[in-house]
Amino acid sequence: MTQERLASSAHATGPLAGRVIVLGITGSIAAYKAAGLASTLTQMGAEVHVILTEAATRFVTPLTFQALTHRPVHTDLWAPDPATGVPHIELAERAEVLVVAPATAATIARLAQGLAEDFLTCVALATQAPLVVAPAMDGGMFEHPATQANLAVLRSRGALVVEPEVGHLASGLTGRGRLAAEERIIAAIRQVLGRRGPLAGVRVVVTAGGTREPIDPVRFIGNRSSGKMGYALAEAARDRGAEVTLITAPTALPAPEGVHVVQVERAREMQRAVIEACANADVLLMAAAVADYRPAEEAPQKIKKTGQELTIRLVENPDILKELPRGRLKVKAGFAAESEDLLANAARKLEAKDLDLIVANDITAPDSGFGTDTNTVTLLFRDGRQVPLPNLPKREVAERILDAVQELLQR
Ligand code: CTP
Repeated sequence: MTQERLASSAHATGPLAGRVIVLGITGSIAAYKAAGLASTLTQMGAEVHVILTEAATRFVTPLTFQALTHRPVHTDLWAPDPATGVPHIELAERAEVLVVAPATAATIARLAQGLAEDFLTCVALATQAPLVVAPAMDGGMFEHPATQANLAVLRSRGALVVEPEVGHLASGLTGRGRLAAEERIIAAIRQVLGRRGPLAGVRVVVTAGGTREPIDPVRFIGNRSSGKMGYALAEAARDRGAEVTLITAPTALPAPEGVHVVQVERAREMQRAVIEACANADVLLMAAAVADYRPAEEAPQKIKKTGQELTIRLVENPDILKELPRGRLKVKAGFAAESEDLLANAARKLEAKDLDLIVANDITAPDSGFGTDTNTVTLLFRDGRQVPLPNLPKREVAERILDAVQELLQR
C-alpha cells in the first residue's frame, strides 16, 4: 500500500480547505482531547495554528500539536521570532476564526475582561476574527455565577459558546463541565466560518425523518427514513450562512448546533410547523418521509390481543408539499424516493407539487436511500434539466443540492 503525503495547505482539499483556524488550548485535563480536534481540522484541509497556554503545557506538549498540524506551536509571547515579525499580531490578522477549546474558567475570565497576558489572550484581543469557546472544567466552576456572567459577556460580543456536556468529570464527580464532543465543536467552527457565506440572510426550512402515525399509545405506523439526508442539508445550509429551521420527525440523530429545531411526530403536526415556518422563509427543502396514510382512529388505550384478525382502517394524510401555498418561497424542493420508474415518477411529482427542484432517489440502488450514509440521486429542474450525481456521502449530496438552490435563487 502506498502512502500519500498530507497535502500542504496550498493544495489542501476537504471541507475546510485553506481556512485559517487558530486553536487556543488552555490548562484543562481535556487538553488531550484537543489533539483529536487539531488532527481532524487538519485532515479537513484547514490551516491550523495552535497556541498553548503555559498551563496547557502541563497537560500536553507542543510537539504533539506540531506533529499533528505540521506547523510550529506558539506558547511564549516573549519567544524571539526568527522572522523578526510580531507573531501574535500576524496570527491575529490571518485568523478566520479563533477557537478556544478546552477553555478554562480562568481563560474565559481573561477573555471577558480583555486581559492581554499571554500569547493566546493577546491574539484574542488583537483579532477581528469571530470567537468559538468550548468550556471544560469542574461542574461547580462552570455553574458559578462568575463564569456564567463571563460567558454572557463573550456571547454579547458575538462569541459562540459550545456548551459543555453533562457526565463524568476528572474530579470523579458528575456534572456539566465535560468538553463538548469534537463534532459539536467542529459544527460550531463551520457555522461561524459560514456566517458570510453564499446563503447569508437566506431563511431555509428543512424537513427530515419519517413521521409516526399513532395506532394506540404504544404503536405507530412509521417508515425507514433515518433523517440523515435532511440533517445533512440543514447543516450544510447553516455552514453557508443560512438561517435554518429544521422540522424533524423522531430520529436517532443529535440536534445540529446553530439550527432552530422543531420536533414533530405526525404528518399533520409537520404540516402545521411547515406552514408556520414557511410564512417567513425563502427556501423549503422537504426531505421528510411523510406517511401518506394514518389510522382513522387512535385507540385511547393499548389494543389487546384477542386471537382474532385485527383490521386498522387508514385515511389519507394531507400532502404537505402540494397543499403549501408558495407565499414568499423562492425555492420549493422535494424528494422522490422511488423503487421503479424513478425519473418519470419524479418528474410527475415535480409538476403535481409545483416544485422548482426534485431530488430523485432510487432506493433499490446499492448504498443509496434509507439509513445509508451515501446516496445516488438525480436532480430534476422545472425547466426539464436532469443532473445525475454519482454515489456520494449524504453531506456531499447536500452540498450539490444547495449549489442548485443557490443557482435557483439567483434567477
Ligand atoms: N410529501 C409531503 N406530504 C405527503 C407525502 C409526501 O409533503 N403526505 C413530500 C415528501 O416530503 C417529498 C415529496 O412530497 O418531498 C414526494 O414524496 P413521496 O412520498 O415520494 O411522494 P408521494 O406524493 O407520497 O407519492 P407516492 O407515495 O405515491 O409515491
